[in-house]
Amino acid sequence: MDLKLNKRVYLVTAASRGLGFGVAEALVREGANVVICGRTEESLKKAAAKLGKQAKHLMADVSKERDIDSLVEFVDENFKKLDGLFVNAGGPPPGKFSDISDSDWEKAFHLTLMSAVWLTRKSLPLLEKSDAPSVLYSTSISVKQPIDNLLLSNALRPGVIGLMRSISPELGPKGVRINAICPGYIYTARVEELMSSNESAKDAIESRIPLGRMGTPSEFGTTCAFLLSPVASYIHGALLLIDGGLYQGMM
Ligand SMILES: NC(=O)c1ccc[n+]([C@@H]2O[C@H](COP(=O)([O-])OP(=O)(O)OC[C@H]3O[C@@H](n4cnc5c(N)ncnc54)[C@H](OP(=O)(O)O)[C@@H]3O)[C@@H](O)[C@H]2O)c1
Repeated sequence: MDLKLNKRVYLVTAASRGLGFGVAEALVREGANVVICGRTEESLKKAAAKLGKQAKHLMADVSKERDIDSLVEFVDENFKKLDGLFVNAGGPPPGKFSDISDSDWEKAFHLTLMSAVWLTRKSLPLLEKSDAPSVLYSTSISVKQPIDNLLLSNALRPGVIGLMRSISPELGPKGVRINAICPGYIYTARVEELMSSNESAKDAIESRIPLGRMGTPSEFGTTCAFLLSPVASYIHGALLLIDGGLYQGMM
């Protein structure tokens, strides 16, 4: 299927590795241009080089409003328009209620929720110049089912879904589609690091996944490229799990 992405422009945040990189790679493979960001120059440069000529990069921390201003200005200077925005960030740190300070809560709020608010608000003028604009928020299976020891993520990611669902009636009439994707376990470097201290952890998780394995960044990226593309033209305000069947609830 032709996703009709040739020469379109996408901003993919937190994309020097992992899920964001998987999305950037899928978009580039389909002929799109991408702007990627991350906080570490060296890994960002390497990622952009791997993506090739269709990729531009800028160092930006999405938990900082000023960095998002610079990022959107960078897209404007280079392309004068934006066809889509993939909102992604690092995960907030683990911890239980008694371990988490007000400062941790505030940092996680900026990283997880305000990054989505700022990126969406500031990108809208450029998105409205596209004939098929779309926004995709990356969240987690934790919006459906809390994950042990990830209180900040469990508490704040549902806010991103609330944001997406609440603004979809406002963005729809402007022609801007907005959706969310909720990964279960996708085997990125971060997941590998988390599993490294406990060899049986991966097997234990995979035994709970009906498809019997974790997903790959490439599978995740391809699905996101579809949702961001003009081909998904009637999908708006939706939340899609990509978890190999891990979530067992009815809704
Ligand atoms: N992989 C999964 O199975 C899974 C499942 C559910 C949810 N998630 C969530 O999805 C997100 C990505 O996960 P991942 O597995 O792809 O992680 P990853 O492999 O560690 O990649 C994270 C990427 O985000 C960048 N980044 C981190 N914080 C950033 C910030 N404040 N501003 C800009 N860039 C930032 C990192 O680069 P720098 O460090 O250089 O900035 C890196 O490129 C996380 O929030 C994670 O909690 C992942």
